[in-house]
Amino acid sequence: MPNYLKRIEVKWKRYYKWALADYRWLFMFLLSRFKSIRNLSTLFLDQPHENPKKLSETSCLNNIKEDEISDLLKKDGLYVGINLPSKLIKQIHNYVNTAHCYGNRDRLLPFLHTEKEIAEKKYEQTFIIGDYLDAHKDCEAIRQLQGDPKLLEIATQYLNTKPVHLSTKLWWSYATEASLTDRLNFAQVFFHYDLLDYRCLQFFFYLTNVDLSSGPHVCVRGSHQNKKLTHQFSFFTGRSDKNIVDYYGTDNLEVICGKAGLGFVEDPYCFHKGISPSKKNRLILKIVFSANSYRSGNL
Ligand SMILES: [Fe+2]
Repeated sequence: MPNYLKRIEVKWKRYYKWALADYRWLFMFLLSRFKSIRNLSTLFLDQPHENPKKLSETSCLNNIKEDEISDLLKKDGLYVGINLPSKLIKQIHNYVNTAHCYGNRDRLLPFLHTEKEIAEKKYEQTFIIGDYLDAHKDCEAIRQLQGDPKLLEIATQYLNTKPVHLSTKLWWSYATEASLTDRLNFAQVFFHYDLLDYRCLQFFFYLTNVDLSSGPHVCVRGSHQNKKLTHQFSFFTGRSDKNIVDYYGTDNLEVICGKAGLGFVEDPYCFHKGISPSKKNRLILKIVFSANSYRSGNL
């Protein structure tokens, strides 16, 4: 079975549930892949009814220029270089060391990340990810970051509206021998773009050092605007490495490696993927803002 069909097989139940929860999500899912409709979306969509609140007027992020980042995002769909202060990294690590994460995102499989091997034996499962499902509300440092005035300003400028906080996720990606099919349940290891809303922006922060062996994120610069018609007129948003390289060339592929604390911002309409960690585990935080919210919940 082709890889993109495997991914659909994994996700169709979730799509069905989200469409039932909010018919607007289904329209968005079908239509937002077309650039012209995304550009026109400001004309026919409601304003968001629930905006994230600034937790403070003071940002914890130094040396970033929101205007420049927003301009670069419009051009490239990607900006790399928002660095978390060491104090915040330490606070998140303190949380990670004491809070339970959930094996393969299953609430029935809680464990401390330092006891992963013990938990895998106990539950008789291999964990591909360990997800801190409550981090967005239980970790003070993450709550501070998702309400940071500079992040919100970047999102406001890029989305051209008051941003809606769509989701926050903190998770380990483990270096495992798991099969491709198993991995596809929890990670998108093929190039794809995400249909989360007509306009959307996601911030990522590495919380462990990431090199080529620890699952770096890869993004195709400029692909949020520049897509072949066949990329848009297709139900499937996934593409093979060859298809991407043939069209965009290797020069536009950004493999993002860096130390713990490195942050980057991406328009999820850019083609992107997460390489599977081969040797070292990766801890990453993702905060997503959009122009609209859907009753489908935390996508
Ligand atoms: Fe994605």
